[in-house]
Amino acid sequence: MKIVVIGPPGSGKGTLSKSLVKKFNFVHISTGDMIRAHITRATPLDLEVKEILEKGDLVSDELIMELVEATLHDTSHIPNGYILDGFPRTLPQAEWFVSHFEVDYYIILDISSKTVIERISGRRIHPSSGRIYHIKYTPPKVEERDDETGEALIQREDDLPDKVKNRLEVYKSLTTPIISFIESNSDKCIHINAEQTEQAVVQNILSIIGKTL
Ligand code: AP5
Repeated sequence: MKIVVIGPPGSGKGTLSKSLVKKFNFVHISTGDMIRAHITRATPLDLEVKEILEKGDLVSDELIMELVEATLHDTSHIPNGYILDGFPRTLPQAEWFVSHFEVDYYIILDISSKTVIERISGRRIHPSSGRIYHIKYTPPKVEERDDETGEALIQREDDLPDKVKNRLEVYKSLTTPIISFIESNSDKCIHINAEQTEQAVVQNILSIIGKTL
């Protein structure tokens, strides 16, 4: 099965993807994770991309499409399918994606900015595994420590309040328009109320896609 998940920053795309991956052995393809992995060196291009990320702006369509193409041009090594998180995010990306790839579902997470801000401000990440916590909703067993390794958790640079404000504006101006584009080019869009608990969001999706698994 091939699934694309679209939603504002902090709407739960990563959390949902990790649940579905655990359940169905999908591969989780997160363009945010791809870019963060890409900027571990200190080349001029990496530093430029790092700055874009930290401001909460989008990296260029060319770079991101190149990364996605390199991952998706041959999916024979991912027999159970994938969940694509964070792509497409602009109209050129959506036009390219829709014309090159067939998927089973586009899941669109609907959520208010108020909830997103609360979720992002409480988010903690274990950098090497990507495990996601929330200090209120899914706290680690030991404060600020990863459950499995005991290593320190971090807050993402782009999770600071002024960056989040920019990320939400970018989402509204560049990503919201792709939803109507995708809806008019595909009958596979599902809107999910992402204000619900993690379990309710997953159950809601399973009740729709589960029938065909
Ligand atoms: P990316 O990493 O994709 O960030 P994002 O879209 O801003 O999304 P987040 O990772 O912040 O949030 P999420 O929706 O995954 O929420 P999460 O599950 O963690 O992209 C980062 C950057 O990379 C972009 O800004 C851009 O620069 C670049 N980029 C990426 N893709 C690009 C593209 N296609 N084109 C150009 N540039 C691109 O959940 C958030 C918190 O809420 C967590 O603490 C979690 O525990 C909690 N939570 C989740 N669900 C629930 C729930 N139901 N109830 C209560 N708490 C919940």
